[in-house]
Amino acid sequence: MTILVTGGAGFIGSNFIFYELEHHPEDRIVCLDKLTYAGNLSTLKDVLDLPNFRFIRADICDREAVYRLFEEEHPDMVVHFAAESHVDRSIENPGVFLETNIMGTAVLMDACRKYGIRRYHQVSTDEVYGDLPLDRPDLLFTEETPLHTSSPYSSSKASADLLVMAYHRTYGLPVSISRCSNNYGPYQFPEKLIPLMIANCLANKPLPVYGKGLNVRDWLYVEDHCKAIDLIIRNGREGEVYNIGGHNEMANIDIVKLILKELGKSEDLITYVTDRKGHDMRYAIDPSKIHAELGWLPETMFAEGIRKTIRWYLDNREWWETIISGEYKDYYRKMYENR
Ligand code: NAD
Ligand code: DAU
Repeated sequence: MTILVTGGAGFIGSNFIFYELEHHPEDRIVCLDKLTYAGNLSTLKDVLDLPNFRFIRADICDREAVYRLFEEEHPDMVVHFAAESHVDRSIENPGVFLETNIMGTAVLMDACRKYGIRRYHQVSTDEVYGDLPLDRPDLLFTEETPLHTSSPYSSSKASADLLVMAYHRTYGLPVSISRCSNNYGPYQFPEKLIPLMIANCLANKPLPVYGKGLNVRDWLYVEDHCKAIDLIIRNGREGEVYNIGGHNEMANIDIVKLILKELGKSEDLITYVTDRKGHDMRYAIDPSKIHAELGWLPETMFAEGIRKTIRWYLDNREWWETIISGEYKDYYRKMYENR
């Protein structure tokens, strides 16, 4: 079977490609990626020459290029990761989020309708449900929780989800959607909380914590997310949404303190900065549906996962130091200087 993976030069997409090539070597993986600031071909260096792997640089919004690829490869499945993924960037510049996350999704599904597909899988996010209050630990997002978004990023992802369900109902496209909580692990772009704090810690730079650092996220090791998607595309039901989460809620400040402790640095590096606009307070996923239907459970506990992640960033300095020495410097200055 041929699986088209979009956004495979990014964080989760690349980890998913490694997972598939290891666990299903009989399948062929075709990766389509535009290589935006967040995509990095060097991440895929170990698989680029494999006979059952092909990389194509293209924009999912480029209908002609996408159709051409479908004509050449006739994928059996599409697993759609490609997206603008950073909330802070969406607050600065919403336009590209609407273009890539909504219009790009429509182009891919049009290609699936035109050429046929066994499964189109949309990689979505728990952010489509909005946020939960800190004082109601009993509340969790289920698949029935209404969509209620806060940022341009989450609104674009929710719009894409609605479009996916519309293509299922209107055209009978065989779709599935997964909505996952915050991922962490190897190859995450250093603009996101955990790698940013690791990189700053190692450079003895201030650690910019938004607001009071009390916002809560439900952290999941990236390989567990990849395993869940693999189960859904192979055994999950068509037309269904599956929530994926780690049952691992943590306040940002506790994550930052843990990273400082693991790296033997002082808490004096913590700097509280102006809060993110519209900042979601708490995300928490109820993953009982995917557990009951597909037997999925997170396997990597946070204490182990964060150690493995810190180790990876220590062992792969070249990967992220190259990134933060480029245009990222301008981004960092714009977002954090005088904040
Ligand atoms: P990322 O930003 O690390 O990677 C995105 C990839 O998509 C990059 O390789 C980029 O080059 C590519 N891309 C962007 N625009 C494109 C376009 N127009 N055409 C082709 N390729 C394009 O993102 P990530 O963190 O790996 O997230 C992947 C997916 O998972 C996203 O859809 C995101 O919404 C979703 N998600 C992420 C998390 C998380 O914690 N990171 C959690 C839940 C869901
Ligand atoms: O929940 C899933 C989502 O998780 C995904 O859909 C998104 O693609 C992904 O980026 C992530 O969104 P968040 O906004 O939760 O992740 P981020 O790493 O940007 O921030 C995590 C928390 O840390 C959030 O409460 C904001 C805070 N933060 C972040 C940064 C970058 C800081 O306090 N300081 C920072 O410098």
